[in-house]
Amino acid sequence: MQLAHLQAIKPLCAVCLGQGSQNPIALSRRDLGDESQVQQGLLQCGVCGMEYPIIDGIPILLPKLREWVQGSLFHLVKRQDLSHSLDSLLGDCCGPDAAWENTRATLSTYGWDHWGEYLDVQDLACPPGAVRTLSQRLTELLPAKPGPLLDVGCGPGGSTHSLALAHPERLVVGVDMNFSLLQAGLRILEGTGELPLRQEGVVHHWHPARQPEKAPNLALWCADARLLPFAAGSFGGASSLNLVDSVDQPLQHLLELARVLEEGGSAWLSTPFDWSTRATPMAQWLGAHSQRGDHGGDSRKVFLGMIQRGILPLHLRAEAAGEWRLRTGSRSHTRYQVWLAALEKGEQFAAAETGL
Ligand SMILES: C[S@@+](CC[C@H](N)C(=O)[O-])C[C@H]1O[C@@H](n2cnc3c(N)ncnc32)[C@H](O)[C@@H]1O
Repeated sequence: MQLAHLQAIKPLCAVCLGQGSQNPIALSRRDLGDESQVQQGLLQCGVCGMEYPIIDGIPILLPKLREWVQGSLFHLVKRQDLSHSLDSLLGDCCGPDAAWENTRATLSTYGWDHWGEYLDVQDLACPPGAVRTLSQRLTELLPAKPGPLLDVGCGPGGSTHSLALAHPERLVVGVDMNFSLLQAGLRILEGTGELPLRQEGVVHHWHPARQPEKAPNLALWCADARLLPFAAGSFGGASSLNLVDSVDQPLQHLLELARVLEEGGSAWLSTPFDWSTRATPMAQWLGAHSQRGDHGGDSRKVFLGMIQRGILPLHLRAEAAGEWRLRTGSRSHTRYQVWLAALEKGEQFAAAETGL
């Protein structure tokens, strides 16, 4: 974590939200790393005293830190120095439903899409870079307003990297709650990363990644899309790519996305609306049920209805369809047609804008 990024973005305490203080979070301890790049240490809220760890260069700014540490301990203490043959043997012993395999499979799928172009591997059936293309299309539909940019649910950070390369003068912050994905993204950015590519079952092959183009103003932080640790109006643009149906409180996430945007800021949304109770309780789905209603169960219409009713302080400026492919194995991939929506933060809304 670069101290300059902390000073530029001035995150709020995820517990007390700063209670009006301008810059309540500061570095209280540096255990590893230098002043500009802290690898291990502690941040502390100057108002309530809450401590937040920095682990492997990633500040963890979460409201329910204890709960997250207990659930993520495997990711936090997982060894990184095992040979590929031991990695494979441990995978065989643990089997397909274990954290070991889930972590590798998730890294394989998202790592490939975000960073596959930096591996010496080809997959003609499922080329990498779909999420980067979605991000680029959205910023073409509605360019960024001045100010820092945010990529919520950034996974291993390929879309954050694309945003940072397109806006080299801006600070671009990617946030996610999956520590292994953030860690893998940071390693690749530093030029020391490698990724497992799933063949089938629990068989994975590891590949080193070439160092991507440098993006010095890029930060990958661990934060919750349902309670973003940023002051209202902190960002000129914020993306939520394929996250709305992966979070357990989608409306709360969208309200947070709008809150951290400045007036006139751009919200870039991509979603396949592929609801599942594994990620989101049905009561929280935006559409995809109650087809007898005016919206016919169409999630897009439910979303636009929330704008029309003034629940979400966003205007729809442009929409499009996009393709999102995810590689799940050497012979399998999933292909979605996603809804792309470019929205602008504003207090007012007009029924005509929603097209309903
Ligand atoms: C379907 S993946 C999409 C990742 C990436 N945006 C993409 O399009 O490739 C959803 C991501 O959201 C993250 N996520 C889920 N719930 C979250 C939350 N409450 N806060 C932050 N990230 C979350 C997951 O860890 C995962 O990386």
